[in-house]
Amino acid sequence: MIVVSCSHGRHLGRKIAESLHKKHSSLVVGKFPDSELKVRIGCDVKNKDVAFIQSFYKDVNDCIVEAILAAHTAIELGAKKVILAAPYFPYMRQDKRFRKGEAISQRIIAGLVDKYFDEVYVMDPHLHREDRIEHIFKTKAVKLTANNLIAGYIRKHIKNPVIIGPDVESYKWARNVAEMIGAESRILRKKRYSSYRVEVRLNKKINLKNRNAVIVDDIISTGQTILETAKILRKLGAKKIHCICVHGIFVNDSLAKLRKAGIKVVSTNTIPSEVAKIDVSGVISRSLVTI
Ligand code: R5P
Repeated sequence: MIVVSCSHGRHLGRKIAESLHKKHSSLVVGKFPDSELKVRIGCDVKNKDVAFIQSFYKDVNDCIVEAILAAHTAIELGAKKVILAAPYFPYMRQDKRFRKGEAISQRIIAGLVDKYFDEVYVMDPHLHREDRIEHIFKTKAVKLTANNLIAGYIRKHIKNPVIIGPDVESYKWARNVAEMIGAESRILRKKRYSSYRVEVRLNKKINLKNRNAVIVDDIISTGQTILETAKILRKLGAKKIHCICVHGIFVNDSLAKLRKAGIKVVSTNTIPSEVAKIDVSGVISRSLVTI
């Protein structure tokens, strides 16, 4: 197997290749003046299994086109198997037509992966109504999780934690992590009115006096979910408020806003940033080990 890092997978690709003792190569990616992409695979892929590492953040749509150009080229050049390892995979949240005429993006983008990849490995995808990744993709799909790593981080760094999930769906991360470390947990209720307007409320009282509240969620994007949750936790007397997420998208100045609100933020490195302190490369390597 050869591990090929796409433009947004370089922070993990080399480490993954090293731990698997496999050859590593970086996809050569360029952009024409009109913004079209140009990609080149710089190694021989004939009769080889090729694992492309691509995390889909920042220029999400370019990341998708790049991965498809790379996969198609690998197939044309005779690769035996074409694999996508996606530390962060996008477009998973729009899984139904919320309003008449809307595209069901999840299905369409997953369909592109089905067409060009033989296998896909996704770290903590945000799945709503259908949680089984094998029902989202038709190609072989494996869901990976950073829960174990997040639990390990809390055990090591945060004393007397109470784990808080900011919305119903966060139980997959928050409650799971709380169970792993044997900590108390609460799952709050959230209503989202728009990208920047969310309301979070507590459904059952909890005493946080002199305790460390740790919000655990999969994604931080605008940061509004965490900011609203933190307001409630402060009122309940939390000594410190920590927040740990898998995918730190941090659009615009959201990380700065969270810090200004006194929240200690940590994420995994599915998306690189200054707070990406939890390394997921081992989880990805282990999933690829049998290939
Ligand atoms: C959605 O339900 C996710 O789990 C996150 O809570 C959400 O994506 C966070 O978004 P934002 O940071 O924009 O509030």
